[in-house]
Amino acid sequence: MRKRVTKAIFPVAGMGTRFLPATKSVPKEIMTLVDRPLIQYAIDEARAAGIKEFIFVTSRGKSALEDYFDHAPELENKLRQDGKEELLETLRSTNMDSGAIAYIRQHKPLGLGHAVWCARRLIGNEPFAVMLPDDVIAAETPCLQQMVEAHAETGGSMVAAMEVPDVKVSSYGVLDLNEDHGSVVSVKGMVEKPPAGTAPSNLAVIGRYILTPQVLRNLNKIKPSAGNELQLTDAIAEEINQGRDVFGYRFRGQRFDCGSKAGFLQATVAFGLARPELRDEFSHYLSEMAALPNAAQ
Ligand code: UTP
Repeated sequence: MRKRVTKAIFPVAGMGTRFLPATKSVPKEIMTLVDRPLIQYAIDEARAAGIKEFIFVTSRGKSALEDYFDHAPELENKLRQDGKEELLETLRSTNMDSGAIAYIRQHKPLGLGHAVWCARRLIGNEPFAVMLPDDVIAAETPCLQQMVEAHAETGGSMVAAMEVPDVKVSSYGVLDLNEDHGSVVSVKGMVEKPPAGTAPSNLAVIGRYILTPQVLRNLNKIKPSAGNELQLTDAIAEEINQGRDVFGYRFRGQRFDCGSKAGFLQATVAFGLARPELRDEFSHYLSEMAALPNAAQ
């Protein structure tokens, strides 16, 4: 019987330089798509996949993120007094159980691999998930749930994967495929940010992972690589070198790279249009704006 995946690490200690000046004081993960912060999308996806313990790797300047998960009794009382049941329910759905969240500090932004390593003492001898809240995935079955179901069959380590165009492949961790079974692919190598023209495939790693605890031990051994950072990809690739299984999982759904401005704007439009109360007004506005040469100038 395989162990269930009940813990997830959320590495949120990055500096978010692509969103400066906003990220000078607002953590990227608190920025909102319509009215919900990025982190809420990731939490909801994790809960749907059966995650019970949420481990945040944070850094200086992220207190707004910790505050977000506090209960808000004054606000709840006011909404109750005013009979605003719907808003009250919206607020309650963001409450987390006592003891379900842990915060670990990454003192220096030494890379994603290092951020995950910082949480090592909170992970026992069981597989765990890693979720990057910058990657927001709209899907009928939430992406991590799809992966947990697939992982129950395969075991090993698993990374979410999607095909990206040639011009973008150098920005990602890329899979070298062994056997391609459609949604599940077995992997014989992984390379982080391959120089142009050297990528082994177009199948790129996206910010959802199910990893064995051995990957945390590999993080102890590997050296910084791309961008002089400790890369999670290298620690997973080390699994393959040691003869253990690593799989890519082609998820069903649409992924938005909310760590980039263009991706964030696309997600805002897509999630805005998906709201029944906004759809008509917003789509009308968008088609008018698209026809103007100098919108918002
Ligand atoms: P990014 O590569 O997007 O970096 O990190 P960033 O600092 O968040 O953003 P930019 O590139 O400066 O705009 C991917 C994920 O890894 C986390 C980030 O918080 C994000 O969730 N991360 C990255 C860490 O937790 N620690 C690090 O040292 C680096």
